[in-house]
Amino acid sequence: MQHLYKQGTNDYTILLLHGTGGDENSLLQLASLVDEQANVLSVRGNVLENGMPRFFKRLAEGVFDFEDLALRTEELYAFIGEASERYAFDRTKVIALGYSNGANIAANLLFTYADALAGAVLHHPMVPRRDADMPNLQNVPVFIGAGTNDPLCTKEESEELAERLIAAGAQVDTSWFHFGHQLTMDEVQAATAWYQKTF
Ligand code: MLT
Repeated sequence: MQHLYKQGTNDYTILLLHGTGGDENSLLQLASLVDEQANVLSVRGNVLENGMPRFFKRLAEGVFDFEDLALRTEELYAFIGEASERYAFDRTKVIALGYSNGANIAANLLFTYADALAGAVLHHPMVPRRDADMPNLQNVPVFIGAGTNDPLCTKEESEELAERLIAAGAQVDTSWFHFGHQLTMDEVQAATAWYQKTF
């Protein structure tokens, strides 16, 4: 997968996953705010929708192509493994930081594999699928940044995602913002504070 890798000085690797229309450069600043010393693996989604990179296909806004979601999740999981060998980072210390479509594929990594992520910062995620036989996510810390007026990820859906993750054993912290789908500085600061107290 097209990506950027930046070597850091601690054991963590931040896996950056952009929103629709972004690329591997879009969230770089967030990684340095959250953990300046971590390695950064920033990946570009392999799907193009009218020229806009995404991590998996959708049939309409908020309506996922589940077959493609499964395939792309497997592809991303394999890619993280390959990258950990190529760049010699600790595969057990990968923390996803994703926004919107990137948060959705990160959520689906959590819904699919017990060992994909050591933690996740999910900005405006949705429930990736409802058929999942959840893996054991015991003690995996997850931050959810949600908007009370987000038309794509409703309040109910954000709450449902948190409940499903908690039921699988994850430690979920949800922060609410009185905005829509956009990522605000307040939310970035809340995610940074959460990350720094958690890792
Ligand atoms: C998605 O397709 O992942 C969600 O609708 C969020 C988006 O990318 O717009």
